[in-house]
Amino acid sequence: MPAFGDVVEAYRIPVVVRLTDNLYALAYRLMKMVPARHIMRQAADQGLLEPGATVVETTSGTFGLALAMECAITDRPLVLVSDPVIDAPLRRRLEDLGATVDIVRERAPGGGYQATRLARVAELMAALPSAFCPEQYTNPANPASYALVADLLADQLGQVDCLVGPVGSGGSMCGTASALREAYPDLRAIGVDTHRSVLFGQPDGLRALRGLGNSLVPANLDHRQFDEVHWVDAGRAYAATRDLHRRHALFMGPTSGASYLAGAWWAARNPDALTVVVLPDEGFRYLDTVYDDGWLTAGGWSADAPGGRPVTVSGAADAVDGWSRLLWGRRSLAEVVGADLAGVA
Ligand SMILES: Cc1ncc(COP(=O)(O)O)c(C=O)c1O
Repeated sequence: MPAFGDVVEAYRIPVVVRLTDNLYALAYRLMKMVPARHIMRQAADQGLLEPGATVVETTSGTFGLALAMECAITDRPLVLVSDPVIDAPLRRRLEDLGATVDIVRERAPGGGYQATRLARVAELMAALPSAFCPEQYTNPANPASYALVADLLADQLGQVDCLVGPVGSGGSMCGTASALREAYPDLRAIGVDTHRSVLFGQPDGLRALRGLGNSLVPANLDHRQFDEVHWVDAGRAYAATRDLHRRHALFMGPTSGASYLAGAWWAARNPDALTVVVLPDEGFRYLDTVYDDGWLTAGGWSADAPGGRPVTVSGAADAVDGWSRLLWGRRSLAEVVGADLAGVA
């Protein structure tokens, strides 16, 4: 009789799907199960996570859901610090899994909630001495957890020439690209971000596209892993998400659309290279938004908007609304935007 794993074990492994001759999708049900399982197991092994200890984390997205699933099946209390932008279906699911959702309401000066959320986590950790915080933005176990995905890609596809994926904490792209490069050092890594996200040097501001981008630069984002960065606007990402569904029947979320947009463009221009696009989560959570034509129209978007092509810019500040691309060249943030803007002492 084969040994069966629990739900996180069973769902965290992505499937590789062929989209065209040289373009493949790495489609996850919920990508964040990869770091969630790895971080929690490692912390328990290292004695940092005692049985029954509360887990505290800041997230308004899929890492929270993955942690809530992990904590439900291991019977651990979980507090998730989030902000008012959290969507109602996700919140219902988190609470049904037994998580406490703690909402911060104050924005940082740039408009984002990240700094306020981190301050709230620190407050909770001080109040709960045995609590454990997975710290997806700084914990090196986040990128390290993706070595298993790199192995899966190498087993199933052999040499991958280009990996394209959305960037939030940096864990998935940096972890997968660095592990793949042990076998294929010439792998091209393309990070997908959105305007007004500070990850690759844009000024902080309000963003419609959620799940990628950030209002702080996380320690887990190793800029030197990236050959190229694309900034994609919400409208193009939404239309590409719908296109991915209609054309390839892959029912995924909007960060997958952004990734597919950039990856399909690159693959079409490089027919001899094998490109893999990372698709981080399924579409169910977005049925009332990205998959609802009325919602798109009300926001000024359309499911049929043409993707077009990116404008190649020479600096992060030149990436204006639309779709921009910068040849990053595996440089640090300070090398690209200058030490002052990168916050380097
Ligand atoms: C739906 C979705 N896509 C992409 C990302 C970015 O992944 P990473 O945090 O590994 O950079 C996230 C991060 O939370 C996400 O929730």
